[in-house]
This record gives sequence, structure tokens and C-alpha cells, in this order.
Amino acid sequence: MNELKVGIIGIGNMGYAHAKNIFEGKVNRLKLVAVCDIDLNKLENAKKQFPDVLIYNNADELISSKQVDAVIIATPHFLHTEIAIKAFNLGLHVLTEKPAGVRASDVLKMNAAAEKSGKVFGIMWNQRTNPLFKKAKELVENGTLGTMKRMIWIITNWYRSQSYYNSATWRATWSGEGGGVLLNQAPHNLDLWQWIFGMPDEIYASCDIGKWHNIEVEDDATILGYYKNGATATFITSTGEYPGTNRLEISGSKGKMVLEKGKLTLTLTETDEREFCFTCPDGFPNFETHETVIEQTEKESSHNGILQNFTDAVLDKAPLLASGYEGIKEISLSNAAYLSAWTGKKVKLPLDYDAFDKELKKRIDCSKGERTVSDKIASGQTSRWQVNW
Ligand SMILES: NC(=O)c1ccc[n+]([C@@H]2O[C@H](COP(=O)([O-])OP(=O)(O)OC[C@H]3O[C@@H](n4cnc5c(N)ncnc54)[C@H](O)[C@@H]3O)[C@@H](O)[C@H]2O)c1
Repeated sequence: MNELKVGIIGIGNMGYAHAKNIFEGKVNRLKLVAVCDIDLNKLENAKKQFPDVLIYNNADELISSKQVDAVIIATPHFLHTEIAIKAFNLGLHVLTEKPAGVRASDVLKMNAAAEKSGKVFGIMWNQRTNPLFKKAKELVENGTLGTMKRMIWIITNWYRSQSYYNSATWRATWSGEGGGVLLNQAPHNLDLWQWIFGMPDEIYASCDIGKWHNIEVEDDATILGYYKNGATATFITSTGEYPGTNRLEISGSKGKMVLEKGKLTLTLTETDEREFCFTCPDGFPNFETHETVIEQTEKESSHNGILQNFTDAVLDKAPLLASGYEGIKEISLSNAAYLSAWTGKKVKLPLDYDAFDKELKKRIDCSKGERTVSDKIASGQTSRWQVNW
């Protein structure tokens, strides 16, 4: 096979953007063969925009059409699990939008189906393609910063207006979306947290429901992560602050790095702090440090970068930048944060899946259900889906 035939399920904001990029040939060896949506207006538009592309009005028909080798799932999150499992069972490769699912238990099932089918399972963690985050991961993993002490991420520039929440019936409800900022906007950063700094052993969180918007889920959250070696993580996110901040600071025993405003500032000590702490006679020491500033010169390849990597993984067995397995880790962080906020207790990882699923069900059962969609529909903001410093 030297070309991958793909079908896109859900051609709303994100699915349409993927369809357009693939149709315009922006991903080598990836061919848009089919699209599917339950919204007939979107299908009418697709017919005009993508001539010769097959159009289906339900996912089952597209999946069983035998016309595609792979699907991209860009529906509301709750549907990702069922659609992915059906696709794997029919021998298709799957790239799902983030978050992989709503419950960690769902994402485990998706991974089990992928493993059984032997097909490629990728996740659209497009922010992993950002060169500064890749550099940050390298600096943590190669020991430049020494032993990890602390991560602090203020990621409050995910601003959304009320009209965004009113733009689709499923948004910002427990039954339609399954969560708020932790499930829709901040998953990128939760994934990068665990990708760069590793998974914590315990989580404590507070989540404020509808603090800034008329919604039944959280739009402001603070998570604390605890690691066995004593390291801690603090993660603060919101869709209600403007202009907000995107500042990631990681400190270790040999110094710190700060990622902000499109640059990474690395400040290193000559000796490991754990060493000089116990050998230095001066109680208020002032050691020499060395600062290096790494600017983001190269653009992130973003969504098309992940689409290319997924295509190369299927056609050439290239390693995935973001595998389905990574989806379990990210969703475990947000599930644990919700469970902690709901119970007021620290939550241990790996997560007690049943405990989370039961608590989520209570909220789904009391959910007000579908939102009323306003006349003024928020337009897609493709540039806002990339890293915003
Ligand atoms: N990676 C990113 O940067 C990024 C950005 C935006 C959205 N997303 C993700 O993409 C997914 C979709 O979000 P969106 O903003 O595009 O939402 P959206 O509401 O604009 O689009 C979802 C589409 O799915 C369709 N749909 C619903 N049920 C369906 C079904 N059973 N079969 C086929 N189609 C169905 C809807 O009609 C709609 O057109 C979400 O999981 C979201 O988190 C990712």
C-alpha cells in the first residue's frame, strides 16, 4: 500500500479542518475518500467542497463501506469509544480526536480493541509537535535539569465566550460532553504534563462549575499532582480569564526551565543543589548560574504533523508520536481530578475506574441535557488550536 485511504467521521469544526487539509494534499500519501456526519447541512456543504468524496450520513455505513483503510473520529467525545471499537473490529486503523474518550475505562477498551485488531491507533495530540515542548521533554529525560522537583503550569489562556458554549448542543454538559475545560481545552496540556514530566502517583483538585459562564460543568480548575520522589505538579486552567497566561516552569536539582511567550529559558547551576545544600558553609549562598534562551524558530507542524505521522505509521511502521496508549494516561489525569474535586479527597493513580464511572454517571443522570444552540454560531478558530503563547 503506498497511499492511505481515509474517512472522516464528524465534519464539524475540527473534522472539516482535517478534511480540507487532506483534500488539499497537505498530508503526503493520505487520501480523503469519505466523510460522514449526522447533520445534513454539513453533508451538503461537503458535497460542494469535496467533489468525488463519498458522503455517508452515519458512521456505521462509512466504517463498513470497505472504501477506507482508516478513519479519523472528530465527533463529540462520548462517541469516540464506540466508533473506534467498531472500526478496529472491521480491520480499520483509527486516529481519534482528543480526548480519546471521556472515561479512562473507555480508553482502555479502545486500546484493547486496537491491540486485538493489530491496527494503528493514534490520538490527535497536535501540541506535541511544538518544538519547545519537544525540547522540554528532551531536557527532562536526558537529565539536564537533574532530579525533578516541581512543575507549575499556568494555562489560563483557553478563553471561551458564552457563544462558544452555545454553538453546539453537546458542549459543556455532563451528558453531552462529560466535562468542561479539563475535558475539552486543557487535555492538550494535561497530555504534555504527563509526556514531559511523567505521571503523578496522586491527584488533588478543585473544579469550579460554571464560574465564568452559564454552563453545568467546570470552566476553572486547579490540580495538584504528587510524585513518589517528592516532586509536585501544580496545574491551573480556565476558560474565563482574558488574556490569560501560558507559562510552564519545571525545576530540578540542577536548575529550571521556563516556557513562555514562544521561548524556553534554561537556567542551570554548576553543581547539583542536593550536593551543595549539605556541603556549602554559607547559609545564604549565591551560586553562579548559566542561562540559555531557546527561541521557537520552527513552526509546529500541528494537526497536519500528526496526520502525517499517523499515515507514516500505517504505511511504513513509523513510531507514533501520540499512540492510543497515551490517551489512557491523559484521561486518567482529568478523571482523577474530577473524582478528587467531587469527593474532596486525594485520588491515587492508577485510577479506580469504577469509582470514577459511578460518580460521573450521577452527574450524567442529573444533567440538564442538550444545550439550546444560539442563532449566532461561533465560527471555527483554527489558529487557536495551536499552541498559544
Ligand atoms: N485537536 C484539536 O485541536 C481539536 C480542536 C477542536 C476540537 N477537537 C475535538 O474534535 C471533536 C469534535 O469537536 P468540534 O469542535 O469539531 O465539534 P463540532 O460540534 O463542531 O463537530 C462535531 C461534529 O460531529 C457530528 N456528529 C455528531 N454525532 C455524530 C455521529 N453519530 N456520527 C457522525 N457525526 C456525528 C456533528 O454533527 C458535528 O458536525 C471533539 O472531540 C473535540 O475535543 C480537537
